[in-house]
Amino acid sequence: MSQILEELERRRAQARVGGGEQRVKAQHARGKLTARERIAAFLDEGSFEEFDMFVQHRCTDFGMQDMKMPGDGVVTGSGTVNGRVVYVFAKDFTVLGGSLSWTHAQKIIKIQDMALKNRAPVIGLFDAGGARIQEGVDALGGYGEVFQRNVLASGVIPQISVILGPCAGGDVYSPAMTDFIFMVRDRSYMFVTGPEVVRTVTNEDVSAEDLGSAHVHTSKSSIADGAYDDDVEALLQMRRLVDFLPSNNISEAPEIDNYDPWDRVDMSLDTLAPDNPNKPYDMKELILKCVDEGDFFEIQEAFAKNIIVGFGRIEGRTVGIVANQPMVLAGVLDSDCSRKAARFVRFCDAFGIPIVTFVDVPGFLPGTDQEYGGLIKHGAKLLFAYAEATVPKVTIITRKAYGGAYDVMGSKHLRGDMNYAWPSAQIAVMGAKGAVEIIFRKDIHDREKIAKHTKDYEDRFLSPFVAAERGFIDEVIMPHSTRKRIVKALRMLRNKTLENPWKKHDNIPL
Ligand code: HXC
Repeated sequence: MSQILEELERRRAQARVGGGEQRVKAQHARGKLTARERIAAFLDEGSFEEFDMFVQHRCTDFGMQDMKMPGDGVVTGSGTVNGRVVYVFAKDFTVLGGSLSWTHAQKIIKIQDMALKNRAPVIGLFDAGGARIQEGVDALGGYGEVFQRNVLASGVIPQISVILGPCAGGDVYSPAMTDFIFMVRDRSYMFVTGPEVVRTVTNEDVSAEDLGSAHVHTSKSSIADGAYDDDVEALLQMRRLVDFLPSNNISEAPEIDNYDPWDRVDMSLDTLAPDNPNKPYDMKELILKCVDEGDFFEIQEAFAKNIIVGFGRIEGRTVGIVANQPMVLAGVLDSDCSRKAARFVRFCDAFGIPIVTFVDVPGFLPGTDQEYGGLIKHGAKLLFAYAEATVPKVTIITRKAYGGAYDVMGSKHLRGDMNYAWPSAQIAVMGAKGAVEIIFRKDIHDREKIAKHTKDYEDRFLSPFVAAERGFIDEVIMPHSTRKRIVKALRMLRNKTLENPWKKHDNIPL
């Protein structure tokens, strides 16, 4: 018996070294952890249960029969994050560059199937060279089956991808279908085709960094939702993110102990929005002063900064925050920020997370650039996302809510549950200047008349009261009591039930 036990230990030890000491050293020299070190940093200590440690590929082409390494380039299993079950797979770059073979794919598929059956999140850690080139169509088939499962799990369990090294070819599309992608600065990159293929096909000379670094994907393409300095920071932040999320679409997000008084007032909010409507202020200050203990996990912080989205908690329960940012482009809605916020709103709705919206929006961004780029369709995505959402929706208008953007941003007309406005709110078709120039075009050269019309327009429309008279705003509230009002609204809405008509699925303007 002892011999058999020793044999098991020997085999385990062999599997644990992955591609061997030299390759592990090279991995460390690049500032990267190994797959098992990453899993250990991410999960609760000692909670990892590994599966399929002895799986080997079955390829016999190109001398592969002599290149067998137990585990086949991916470490898979389950463990806990602050006590809650998650499933993980981590590509092992030290084994054939973490490339995907048929058997490697089967290991990931097993994790995906178990996670879906047991309704727990899947976290994929990527560091790989794409399809195992020696395997040809087997690798393509493997990818296809992983993709299929990503889609079936979408909206049922949270799926998170963390890119910690190269991520090329087939490896990019599985992350692309998950809910969130995070990267590591300077040592991770994502692209469908690498610099050499780009050079051959398009004659374009581009480095891997310029093609698909964390900087590119967080600030230009919006493929990635955030970036961190190293593996450990990224993995610790993923633990924080998991804590904000429910395990699946029918269970609630964990309720975290909260020591922030529910009725905390903040007098500084009374002077946050400047009297001059053209002066910006930082909407993030309002968010941080409303959520529990100022704890806010921002998504896509570096992209389309004119809108802020992310997770916070109110009374220990997760909420999704969507907020116009007057500091950037005056908080205007454009194509990029509409897409960013629409995806976030849909995530929250899919996973039963209430949405709190802070509004200060001067409208949609005019111009050929936006119109040619499909602003109508992109703006419609956000409108669609808010309109179809059935989770509790609480909206606070702090200052401007002009034109179509007023409707879009969680308005009463899109089934907003509790709609509040600060006394400084201005709810109107447009600002006074634009409105007067249109209505009183004939007086345009008479300064005195224009000034009077402007004043009349401001007095009549640039306040929350016309909307409040109509019930479009449930209550005009004191800025300092915003947190308290949000708490009360969410308490009221805790058992909200609202269903959309049955359909196979909707047809959101993609
Ligand atoms: C088999 C691979 C591999 C792959 C890397 N390796 N990629 N083996 N299939 N796709 C192996 C290398 O042979 C090497 O083995 C080890 O992994 C480390 O690779 P290096 O090249 O030495 O590392 P590095 O210089 O860091 O470069 C990493 C890399 C590069 C940028 C990822 O390896 C690379 O460009 N690989 C190929 C990428 C690619 O074209 N993939 C196929 C995409 S097609 P040893 O034994 O020396 O350690 C695709 C289609 C799927 O994915 C589409 C589905 C929709």
